[in-house]
Amino acid sequence: MYTLIHNIGQLLIVPPGPIAGPRMAEAVQIVEHATVVIEDDKIKWFGRESDLPPEFRNPPSAILNSAQSSVLSPQFFSSIIDARGGCVIPGLIDCHTHTVFAGTREHEFALRCAGKTYKEIARAGGGIRNTMQAVRAATKDQLIELARPRLRHMLQNGVTCVEIKSGYGLTPADELKMLNTLAELRSEGAAGFSPRVSPNPNHAGLPELVSTYLAAHTIPPEFTSRADEYLDQMFSDDMLKQVAATGAEFCDVFCENIAFSVEQSRRLFEKAKRFGLRPRVHADQITQMGASRLAGKVGAISADHLEKIDDAGLSAMKAAGTIAVLLPGSSFFLGVPQAPARRILDAGLPVAIATDFNPGSCMISSLPLVMSIACCQRKMTPLEVLVACTANAAAALNRHDRLGAVAVGHQADLVILATPNFDRFLYEIGQSLIQRVIRKGIVTFDGNTTQDILASHN
Ligand code: NIG
Ligand code: FE
Repeated sequence: MYTLIHNIGQLLIVPPGPIAGPRMAEAVQIVEHATVVIEDDKIKWFGRESDLPPEFRNPPSAILNSAQSSVLSPQFFSSIIDARGGCVIPGLIDCHTHTVFAGTREHEFALRCAGKTYKEIARAGGGIRNTMQAVRAATKDQLIELARPRLRHMLQNGVTCVEIKSGYGLTPADELKMLNTLAELRSEGAAGFSPRVSPNPNHAGLPELVSTYLAAHTIPPEFTSRADEYLDQMFSDDMLKQVAATGAEFCDVFCENIAFSVEQSRRLFEKAKRFGLRPRVHADQITQMGASRLAGKVGAISADHLEKIDDAGLSAMKAAGTIAVLLPGSSFFLGVPQAPARRILDAGLPVAIATDFNPGSCMISSLPLVMSIACCQRKMTPLEVLVACTANAAAALNRHDRLGAVAVGHQADLVILATPNFDRFLYEIGQSLIQRVIRKGIVTFDGNTTQDILASHN
């Protein structure tokens, strides 16, 4: 089954990641008046429309342009998508979120606006523990109903793959409930994307989901002053076996002085690795206590946050090939200084960017909005930000051989923007400038507004 996307104003050819900081912008090639050919769920050919190989034309000598799209063989292409001069990028990947949760914490938001800090609220018994109570009180089905519209909203914002962590259950049963919620949403999402099923343009679908075990998020109240006992229970052989059986791929730890120490984190990661769970770390967010150094030492796939990263952390991560995941939406939401993105890029680390969507420190689920914040507040260029949310985010989820790039054989996860170039997309902050979202070769969201938007842009 072949699908053709034509009349693309600009195709941003992002190569597969990981791509190190100094090369991130130059690695992207921009082709104007482009076409993409998809075979089933994979990219088959891409390039200038005028270079489209003869086998994809009917009659073979026809020159393809928007006015002549009828010359394409309907027998050959089951679906022909007119990008209407819009820009095409790889599907965006949100590689750090806490999207499965119940309840909201606007009272903490108001307290912070009045001057309290995230740490003060956590120390007073609020923060993660508030959401923990709401999650423990919810059933798996309720968590699914709460998460599904959030995931659809993400997909409508161009996100085709999302990582989600547990970490609000904090008992064996409640953590497994969160991971099983994820497992169910994952198979629900996958079911809508068989390339043999004819696409339903009104079906929003779900992004691909990646799940991470984050029992070491905070110490639950019933274990106050007994952190090691809590960890022994949550990281027993039996528990880790059950965690891995839900399809979880990673183990995360909030390594911070209001949560778990470097030594505790090291012990948990070594244990989790034996069950196939690769480490990723909430590191150097509030205090510098060596978490990013630990990330390098345990061979973490990513170290995330990094607001307080030091030179030793940068060197350890670089040596281990650990991806630096920045979360500019969370610093923005908390009103604290941003991670030193330019220093991290210049040190030669591959940088990814994610939302950190969660009810406490970042109630922003729009990755495009967070990408714009990275440009404005971290002085990253739009092309660096694009690579951070595609090729490098795919590498942070160990999916760079299949996702996050415009490359032959890669999964056909593509976003058609309602802007003629990519800079315009990030410049018009907070707008919904997505024309169509294609996952596994199927249009899974149709914004349907492009004609007007492009007309006003020209
Ligand atoms: O990434 N730092 C720990 N976890 C989240 C916050 C979770 C919450 O406050 O609910 C974060 O910022
Ligand atoms: Fe987080």
